[in-house]
Amino acid sequence: MNVQTIMVIGAGQMGSGIAQVAAQAGFRVYLHDIRQDFVDRGLASIEKNLSRNVEKGKLTASDKEAILARLVASTDLADARDVDFVVEAATENMKIKSEIFVRLDEICPPHTVLASNTSSLPITEIAAVTKRPEKVIGMHFMNPVPVMKLVEIIRGLQTSDEVYQLTEDLSKQMEKVPVSVNDFPGFVSNRVLMPMINEAIYCVYEGVATPEAIDEVMKLGMNHPMGPIKLADFIGLDTCLAIMEVLYEGFGDSKYRPCPLLRKYVKAGWLGKKSGRGFYEYN
Ligand code: CAA
Repeated sequence: MNVQTIMVIGAGQMGSGIAQVAAQAGFRVYLHDIRQDFVDRGLASIEKNLSRNVEKGKLTASDKEAILARLVASTDLADARDVDFVVEAATENMKIKSEIFVRLDEICPPHTVLASNTSSLPITEIAAVTKRPEKVIGMHFMNPVPVMKLVEIIRGLQTSDEVYQLTEDLSKQMEKVPVSVNDFPGFVSNRVLMPMINEAIYCVYEGVATPEAIDEVMKLGMNHPMGPIKLADFIGLDTCLAIMEVLYEGFGDSKYRPCPLLRKYVKAGWLGKKSGRGFYEYN
């Protein structure tokens, strides 16, 4: 199949990043969200990123215009009737994702592949709500999408080899490096990353060290570009908690129990960078 048009569902941080790299790769891209102001905000952040690249001399002004011209705003899921590939990057909630996939399955032509950017929800379960489970796949990008090279590609139980290959090719066209993993809670990225972040939060909770000290240890001692507490704020503490819950429930192992301090911050609305306050304060 020759993919020409892609729809990205969800115009937040991840969705707008995915739409940007897809448009940069030459695809026509619908950026969809439930509200026009959400889509406008996503498009504005793409415009800002591209302008920065023009200023740095990494992109010409005419390339920037051509990339922006390939992006189409959408608030009507029915626009998916003429797309070849969908990347869903909506809220990490199984009920919301299931509803979106049921509708997409009705709207999209039979050849359309339905991918999810979920960071930990089971692809096999998402696929099961559709009548095309062989065309459902996980395509997990990392934040910030325009910068991070990895795409974790998750095969559901019924994902076909053909759809896997197509998704891998598409990732390469977007200048990403695809890595194949199977469908288990947290896949590989978050099964390894989140327990480290959760343990760092336990260190704050138990008074082992301050967030600044923990981040310094991991940056200078382990060469991480960002310390785990800062990274948690950057990812979103609600997302971190949701992923820990998936691991805890999925494996039934107490080593994945979310730190009570993480729960407390999420309950307080301290969600990290996006809400202005997490373990650090942002203005
Ligand atoms: N969007 C687009 N570009 C961005 C960006 C953003 N949000 N943030 C930074 N960049 C670009 C900058 O413009 C800069 O580009 P040039 O090289 O062209 O100048 C480059 O990235 C480096 O940025 P900075 O010099 O400002 O800062 P830095 O060197 O500290 O890098 C960083 C910033 C790339 C975010 C780096 O700190 C980093 O790699 N952090 C870790 C990120 C990470 O671990 N991400 C994975 C999170 S987990 C996840 O996403 C999965 C999940 O399911 C939860």
